[in-house]
Amino acid sequence: MIDLSGRVAVVTGSGRGIGRAEATRLAAYGAKVVVNDLGVATDGSATDESPADEVVSEITAAGGEAVSDRSDISTADGGAALVQRATDEWGRLDIVVNNAGFGRPRMAFNMTEAEWDDVIRVHLKGTFSVTSPACRWWREEAKAGRGGYGRIVNTATGLLMAGGAGQSNYVAAKAGVMAFTNAVATEMAPYGVTANTIMPSAYTRLAAIGWRSRQHREAAAGPIDAGDPVHVAEMVCYCASPEAGYLSGQTFQVRGGIVEHIRAWEVDRLAERGDRGWAAPDLAGEIPRMFGAGAKPAELPPKEWQQEYQATGTASTSSTPRTDTF
Ligand SMILES: NC(=O)c1ccc[n+]([C@@H]2O[C@H](COP(=O)([O-])OP(=O)(O)OC[C@H]3O[C@@H](n4cnc5c(N)ncnc54)[C@H](O)[C@@H]3O)[C@@H](O)[C@H]2O)c1
Repeated sequence: MIDLSGRVAVVTGSGRGIGRAEATRLAAYGAKVVVNDLGVATDGSATDESPADEVVSEITAAGGEAVSDRSDISTADGGAALVQRATDEWGRLDIVVNNAGFGRPRMAFNMTEAEWDDVIRVHLKGTFSVTSPACRWWREEAKAGRGGYGRIVNTATGLLMAGGAGQSNYVAAKAGVMAFTNAVATEMAPYGVTANTIMPSAYTRLAAIGWRSRQHREAAAGPIDAGDPVHVAEMVCYCASPEAGYLSGQTFQVRGGIVEHIRAWEVDRLAERGDRGWAAPDLAGEIPRMFGAGAKPAELPPKEWQQEYQATGTASTSSTPRTDTF
Protein backbone atom coordinates (compact mmCIF):
# COMPACT_ATOMS: atom_id res chain seq x y z
CA MET A 1 0.00 0.00 0.00
CA ILE A 2 1.49 3.32 -1.07
CA ASP A 3 -0.11 6.29 0.66
CA LEU A 4 1.24 9.76 -0.02
CA SER A 5 -1.69 11.68 1.39
CA GLY A 6 -0.57 14.73 3.33
CA ARG A 7 2.75 14.74 1.46
CA VAL A 8 3.85 17.66 -0.72
CA ALA A 9 5.89 17.03 -3.86
CA VAL A 10 7.66 19.16 -6.45
CA VAL A 11 8.36 17.63 -9.85
CA THR A 12 10.54 19.59 -12.28
CA GLY A 13 9.73 19.47 -15.98
CA SER A 14 6.41 17.79 -15.26
CA GLY A 15 4.37 19.47 -17.98
CA ARG A 16 5.26 16.68 -20.37
CA GLY A 17 6.70 13.22 -20.80
CA ILE A 18 8.07 11.37 -17.82
CA GLY A 19 7.58 14.28 -15.41
CA ARG A 20 3.93 14.52 -16.32
CA ALA A 21 3.44 10.84 -15.47
CA GLU A 22 5.38 11.32 -12.22
CA ALA A 23 3.24 14.29 -11.17
CA THR A 24 -0.07 12.61 -12.00
CA ARG A 25 0.86 9.32 -10.31
CA LEU A 26 2.18 11.09 -7.17
CA ALA A 27 -1.15 12.95 -7.03
CA ALA A 28 -3.05 9.71 -7.58
CA TYR A 29 -1.31 8.29 -4.49
CA GLY A 30 -2.46 11.35 -2.55
CA ALA A 31 0.40 13.85 -2.75
CA LYS A 32 -0.15 17.55 -3.36
CA VAL A 33 2.04 18.44 -6.32
CA VAL A 34 3.78 21.55 -7.59
CA VAL A 35 3.91 20.93 -11.33
CA ASN A 36 6.96 22.81 -12.56
CA ASP A 37 7.65 23.39 -16.24
CA LEU A 38 9.25 26.21 -18.16
CA GLY A 39 7.67 25.01 -21.39
CA VAL A 40 10.80 24.85 -23.54
CA ALA A 41 11.51 22.89 -26.72
CA THR A 42 13.63 19.71 -26.77
CA ASP A 43 16.76 21.81 -27.33
CA GLY A 44 15.91 24.18 -24.46
CA SER A 45 14.75 27.07 -26.64
CA ALA A 46 11.79 29.14 -25.42
CA THR A 47 8.21 28.52 -26.56
CA ASP A 48 4.91 30.13 -25.56
CA GLU A 49 3.52 26.82 -24.25
CA SER A 50 2.35 26.31 -20.65
CA PRO A 51 2.22 22.52 -20.31
CA ALA A 52 2.23 22.67 -16.49
CA ASP A 53 -1.23 24.27 -16.47
CA GLU A 54 -2.67 21.35 -18.45
CA VAL A 55 -1.24 18.83 -15.99
CA VAL A 56 -2.67 20.77 -13.06
CA SER A 57 -6.10 20.68 -14.73
CA GLU A 58 -5.74 16.94 -15.28
CA ILE A 59 -4.81 16.32 -11.63
CA THR A 60 -7.56 18.51 -10.21
CA ALA A 61 -10.15 16.99 -12.57
CA ALA A 62 -9.20 13.60 -11.12
CA GLY A 63 -9.80 14.92 -7.59
CA GLY A 64 -6.16 15.67 -6.70
CA GLU A 65 -4.40 18.86 -5.61
CA ALA A 66 -1.79 20.61 -7.72
CA VAL A 67 -0.46 24.05 -8.61
CA SER A 68 1.65 25.05 -11.57
CA ASP A 69 5.01 26.77 -11.50
CA ARG A 70 7.12 28.21 -14.32
CA SER A 71 10.44 28.61 -12.51
CA ASP A 72 13.57 27.97 -14.54
CA ILE A 73 15.17 25.27 -12.41
CA SER A 74 18.53 25.65 -14.15
CA THR A 75 19.13 28.71 -11.97
CA ALA A 76 19.62 28.82 -8.20
CA ASP A 77 16.89 31.47 -7.96
CA GLY A 78 14.46 29.30 -9.93
CA GLY A 79 15.15 26.26 -7.74
CA ALA A 80 14.67 28.30 -4.57
CA ALA A 81 11.43 29.80 -5.92
CA LEU A 82 10.09 26.31 -6.67
CA VAL A 83 10.79 25.03 -3.16
CA GLN A 84 9.29 28.22 -1.75
CA ARG A 85 6.17 27.69 -3.86
CA ALA A 86 5.58 24.32 -2.16
CA THR A 87 6.13 25.60 1.36
CA ASP A 88 4.09 28.79 0.75
CA GLU A 89 1.20 26.82 -0.73
CA TRP A 90 1.02 23.90 1.65
CA GLY A 91 3.43 24.67 4.50
CA ARG A 92 5.72 21.71 3.91
CA LEU A 93 7.83 19.74 1.45
CA ASP A 94 8.29 15.97 1.42
CA ILE A 95 9.27 14.89 -2.09
CA VAL A 96 11.54 16.38 -4.73
CA VAL A 97 11.69 14.81 -8.19
CA ASN A 98 14.36 16.38 -10.39
CA ASN A 99 13.40 15.45 -13.92
CA ALA A 100 13.51 18.56 -16.15
CA GLY A 101 15.94 18.64 -19.00
CA PHE A 102 16.66 18.82 -22.69
CA GLY A 103 19.29 17.60 -25.12
CA ARG A 104 21.68 19.29 -27.48
CA PRO A 105 23.49 16.36 -29.06
CA ARG A 106 26.62 16.89 -31.10
CA MET A 107 29.97 15.19 -31.37
CA ALA A 108 32.50 16.59 -28.88
CA PHE A 109 34.74 17.78 -31.71
CA ASN A 110 31.93 20.02 -33.02
CA MET A 111 30.22 20.94 -29.78
CA THR A 112 29.99 24.62 -28.94
CA GLU A 113 30.60 26.06 -25.49
CA ALA A 114 26.91 27.05 -25.29
CA GLU A 115 25.77 23.49 -26.10
CA TRP A 116 28.02 22.13 -23.38
CA ASP A 117 27.08 24.77 -20.79
CA ASP A 118 23.31 24.67 -21.37
CA VAL A 119 23.03 20.90 -21.03
CA ILE A 120 25.25 20.78 -17.95
CA ARG A 121 23.26 23.68 -16.50
CA VAL A 122 19.78 22.24 -16.91
CA HIS A 123 20.55 18.69 -15.76
CA LEU A 124 23.37 19.01 -13.23
CA LYS A 125 23.01 22.52 -11.89
CA GLY A 126 19.22 22.18 -12.15
CA THR A 127 19.33 19.14 -9.87
CA PHE A 128 21.49 21.04 -7.38
CA SER A 129 19.37 24.20 -7.63
CA VAL A 130 16.25 22.46 -6.33
CA THR A 131 17.89 19.90 -4.06
CA SER A 132 19.95 22.42 -2.11
CA PRO A 133 17.08 24.64 -0.85
CA ALA A 134 14.97 21.52 -0.23
CA CYS A 135 17.71 20.04 1.96
CA ARG A 136 18.05 23.36 3.74
CA TRP A 137 14.33 23.30 4.49
CA TRP A 138 14.46 19.70 5.77
CA ARG A 139 17.46 20.51 7.95
CA GLU A 140 15.66 23.49 9.49
CA GLU A 141 12.60 21.32 10.13
CA ALA A 142 14.81 18.74 11.84
CA LYS A 143 16.38 21.44 14.03
CA ALA A 144 12.87 22.58 14.98
CA GLY A 145 11.99 19.00 15.95
CA ARG A 146 9.58 18.45 13.05
CA GLY A 147 11.87 16.67 10.55
CA GLY A 148 12.45 13.07 9.67
CA TYR A 149 10.97 12.73 6.21
CA GLY A 150 12.32 13.72 2.82
CA ARG A 151 12.60 11.95 -0.52
CA ILE A 152 14.73 13.04 -3.45
CA VAL A 153 14.48 11.22 -6.75
CA ASN A 154 16.90 12.37 -9.44
CA THR A 155 17.06 11.48 -13.10
CA ALA A 156 20.05 10.04 -14.95
CA THR A 157 20.21 7.96 -18.12
CA GLY A 158 20.94 4.41 -19.21
CA LEU A 159 23.05 5.96 -21.95
CA LEU A 160 25.79 6.06 -19.31
CA MET A 161 26.09 2.31 -19.83
CA ALA A 162 26.19 2.57 -23.61
CA GLY A 163 28.96 5.08 -24.21
CA GLY A 164 26.96 8.10 -25.29
CA ALA A 165 28.52 9.03 -28.62
CA GLY A 166 27.15 12.39 -29.71
CA GLN A 167 25.91 13.06 -26.16
CA SER A 168 29.09 13.86 -24.22
CA ASN A 169 27.54 16.94 -22.60
CA TYR A 170 24.44 14.98 -21.61
CA VAL A 171 26.16 11.89 -20.17
CA ALA A 172 28.67 14.07 -18.33
CA ALA A 173 25.77 15.94 -16.71
CA LYS A 174 23.92 12.72 -15.87
CA ALA A 175 27.00 11.03 -14.39
CA GLY A 176 27.31 14.16 -12.27
CA VAL A 177 23.68 13.79 -11.21
CA MET A 178 24.36 10.23 -10.01
CA ALA A 179 27.48 11.25 -8.09
CA PHE A 180 25.68 14.27 -6.61
CA THR A 181 22.74 12.08 -5.55
CA ASN A 182 24.98 9.64 -3.73
CA ALA A 183 26.80 12.44 -1.89
CA VAL A 184 23.49 14.01 -0.87
CA ALA A 185 22.21 10.60 0.28
CA THR A 186 25.12 10.44 2.71
CA GLU A 187 24.78 14.07 3.81
CA MET A 188 21.04 13.84 4.44
CA ALA A 189 20.85 10.40 6.07
CA PRO A 190 20.91 11.89 9.60
CA TYR A 191 17.78 13.89 8.71
CA GLY A 192 15.70 10.97 7.45
CA VAL A 193 16.03 12.18 3.85
CA THR A 194 16.77 9.66 1.12
CA ALA A 195 18.16 10.34 -2.36
CA ASN A 196 18.01 7.88 -5.23
CA THR A 197 18.55 8.00 -8.99
CA ILE A 198 16.30 6.70 -11.74
CA MET A 199 17.47 5.88 -15.24
CA PRO A 200 14.17 6.17 -17.07
CA SER A 201 13.07 4.84 -20.38
CA ALA A 202 9.91 6.09 -22.08
CA TYR A 203 8.80 7.11 -25.50
CA THR A 204 8.55 10.88 -25.03
CA ARG A 205 9.22 13.75 -27.43
CA LEU A 206 12.76 13.93 -26.05
CA ALA A 207 13.30 10.23 -26.63
CA ALA A 208 12.03 10.65 -30.17
CA ILE A 209 15.10 12.70 -31.07
CA GLY A 210 17.47 10.03 -29.90
CA TRP A 211 15.82 6.66 -29.74
CA ARG A 212 15.40 4.19 -32.51
CA SER A 213 11.68 4.25 -33.07
CA ARG A 214 11.76 0.68 -34.41
CA GLN A 215 12.90 -0.52 -31.01
CA HIS A 216 10.01 1.34 -29.44
CA ARG A 217 7.44 -0.04 -31.82
CA GLU A 218 8.68 -3.53 -31.03
CA ALA A 219 8.59 -2.85 -27.29
CA ALA A 220 5.12 -1.35 -27.57
CA ALA A 221 3.88 -4.47 -29.35
CA GLY A 222 4.27 -6.54 -26.15
CA PRO A 223 1.59 -7.10 -23.52
CA ILE A 224 2.45 -3.78 -21.88
CA ASP A 225 3.51 -0.54 -23.55
CA ALA A 226 7.15 -0.33 -22.49
CA GLY A 227 7.31 3.22 -23.85
CA ASP A 228 4.63 4.46 -21.45
CA PRO A 229 6.26 6.73 -18.82
CA VAL A 230 3.86 5.41 -16.19
CA HIS A 231 6.28 2.53 -15.47
CA VAL A 232 8.99 5.03 -14.51
CA ALA A 233 6.48 7.05 -12.50
CA GLU A 234 5.41 4.06 -10.42
CA MET A 235 9.02 3.42 -9.37
CA VAL A 236 9.41 7.10 -8.50
CA CYS A 237 6.25 6.92 -6.36
CA TYR A 238 7.65 3.92 -4.53
CA CYS A 239 10.98 5.71 -3.88
CA ALA A 240 8.99 8.73 -2.63
CA SER A 241 6.93 6.66 -0.21
CA PRO A 242 7.41 5.90 3.49
CA GLU A 243 7.96 2.25 2.48
CA ALA A 244 11.28 3.18 0.79
CA GLY A 245 12.83 4.86 3.83
CA TYR A 246 15.62 2.26 3.92
CA LEU A 247 16.60 2.91 0.31
CA SER A 248 19.15 5.65 -0.37
CA GLY A 249 22.11 6.27 -2.66
CA GLN A 250 20.78 3.68 -5.11
CA THR A 251 20.23 3.77 -8.87
CA PHE A 252 17.50 1.92 -10.74
CA GLN A 253 16.88 1.68 -14.44
CA VAL A 254 13.22 1.26 -15.41
CA ARG A 255 12.35 -0.05 -18.87
CA GLY A 256 8.70 -0.92 -19.18
CA GLY A 257 8.09 -3.88 -16.90
CA ILE A 258 11.78 -4.27 -16.06
CA VAL A 259 13.36 -2.61 -13.01
CA GLU A 260 17.13 -3.01 -12.79
CA HIS A 261 19.39 -2.09 -9.88
CA ILE A 262 22.52 -0.42 -11.27
CA ARG A 263 25.86 -0.55 -9.50
CA ALA A 264 28.41 2.04 -10.53
CA TRP A 265 31.86 3.05 -9.46
CA GLU A 266 32.82 -0.21 -7.86
CA VAL A 267 36.21 -1.89 -7.83
CA ASP A 268 35.97 -4.58 -10.43
CA ARG A 269 39.49 -6.02 -10.83
CA LEU A 270 42.80 -5.23 -9.25
CA ALA A 271 46.48 -5.80 -9.73
CA GLU A 272 48.64 -5.51 -6.65
CA ARG A 273 52.38 -5.40 -6.27
CA GLY A 274 52.94 -4.20 -2.77
CA ASP A 275 56.71 -4.63 -2.67
CA ARG A 276 57.73 -2.06 -5.32
CA GLY A 277 54.63 -0.90 -7.22
CA TRP A 278 54.13 -1.12 -10.96
CA ALA A 279 56.28 0.32 -13.73
CA ALA A 280 54.65 1.04 -17.09
CA PRO A 281 56.33 -1.93 -18.88
CA ASP A 282 55.02 -4.31 -16.18
CA LEU A 283 51.53 -2.84 -16.54
CA ALA A 284 51.69 -3.46 -20.29
CA GLY A 285 51.87 -7.16 -19.38
CA GLU A 286 49.56 -7.14 -16.37
CA ILE A 287 46.57 -5.05 -17.46
CA PRO A 288 45.66 -7.18 -20.51
CA ARG A 289 45.78 -10.23 -18.21
CA MET A 290 43.11 -8.58 -16.09
CA PHE A 291 40.68 -8.83 -18.94
CA GLY A 292 41.47 -12.47 -19.66
CA ALA A 293 41.84 -14.36 -22.88
CA GLY A 294 38.43 -13.20 -24.15
CA ALA A 295 39.29 -9.51 -23.79
CA LYS A 296 37.65 -7.48 -26.54
CA PRO A 297 37.70 -3.81 -27.41
CA ALA A 298 35.08 -1.48 -25.98
CA GLU A 299 31.76 -1.72 -27.80
CA LEU A 300 31.33 0.90 -30.50
CA PRO A 301 28.03 2.31 -31.74
CA PRO A 302 26.45 0.51 -34.71
CA LYS A 303 28.32 0.92 -37.96
CA GLU A 304 25.71 3.06 -39.71
CA TRP A 305 25.88 5.63 -36.90
CA GLN A 306 29.66 5.71 -37.11
CA GLN A 307 29.43 6.30 -40.84
CA GLU A 308 26.94 9.08 -40.29
CA TYR A 309 29.10 10.71 -37.66
CA GLN A 310 32.09 10.55 -39.97
CA ALA A 311 30.08 12.02 -42.84
CA THR A 312 28.39 14.81 -40.90
CA GLY A 313 30.54 15.19 -37.81
CA THR A 314 27.41 16.04 -35.95
CA ALA A 315 24.44 14.62 -34.12
CA SER A 316 21.78 17.22 -34.74
CA THR A 317 18.39 17.19 -33.04
CA SER A 318 16.63 16.28 -36.27
CA SER A 319 14.51 13.15 -36.45
CA THR A 320 17.53 11.10 -37.55
CA PRO A 321 17.70 8.06 -35.28
CA ARG A 322 20.94 8.19 -33.45
CA THR A 323 21.31 6.69 -30.01
CA ASP A 324 19.59 3.83 -28.27
CA THR A 325 18.62 5.77 -25.23
CA PHE A 326 19.09 9.08 -23.55
N1 LIG B 1 12.57 9.69 -22.38
C1 LIG B 1 13.52 8.83 -22.06
O1 LIG B 1 13.51 7.67 -22.47
C2 LIG B 1 14.62 9.26 -21.15
C3 LIG B 1 15.72 8.38 -20.99
C4 LIG B 1 16.73 8.73 -20.11
C5 LIG B 1 16.63 9.92 -19.39
N2 LIG B 1 15.57 10.76 -19.59
C6 LIG B 1 15.51 11.97 -18.78
O2 LIG B 1 14.20 12.08 -18.25
C7 LIG B 1 13.88 13.45 -18.06
C8 LIG B 1 12.56 13.79 -18.70
O3 LIG B 1 12.66 13.60 -20.09
P1 LIG B 1 11.41 13.46 -21.08
O4 LIG B 1 11.78 12.42 -22.03
O5 LIG B 1 10.17 13.34 -20.31
O6 LIG B 1 11.50 14.88 -21.84
P2 LIG B 1 10.36 15.94 -22.25
O7 LIG B 1 11.00 16.89 -23.21
O8 LIG B 1 9.13 15.25 -22.68
O9 LIG B 1 10.05 16.70 -20.88
C9 LIG B 1 11.02 17.49 -20.23
C10 LIG B 1 10.33 18.72 -19.69
O10 LIG B 1 11.29 19.52 -18.97
C11 LIG B 1 10.97 20.88 -19.17
N3 LIG B 1 12.13 21.74 -18.91
C12 LIG B 1 13.27 21.79 -19.62
N4 LIG B 1 14.10 22.70 -19.10
C13 LIG B 1 13.49 23.23 -17.99
C14 LIG B 1 13.85 24.19 -17.03
N5 LIG B 1 15.02 24.82 -17.09
N6 LIG B 1 12.98 24.47 -16.03
C15 LIG B 1 11.78 23.84 -15.96
N7 LIG B 1 11.38 22.92 -16.86
C16 LIG B 1 12.23 22.62 -17.87
C17 LIG B 1 10.51 20.96 -20.62
O11 LIG B 1 9.70 22.09 -20.89
C18 LIG B 1 9.74 19.63 -20.78
O12 LIG B 1 8.35 19.80 -20.59
C19 LIG B 1 15.08 14.25 -18.59
O13 LIG B 1 15.94 14.56 -17.52
C20 LIG B 1 15.75 13.27 -19.53
O14 LIG B 1 17.11 13.55 -19.71
C21 LIG B 1 14.57 10.45 -20.46
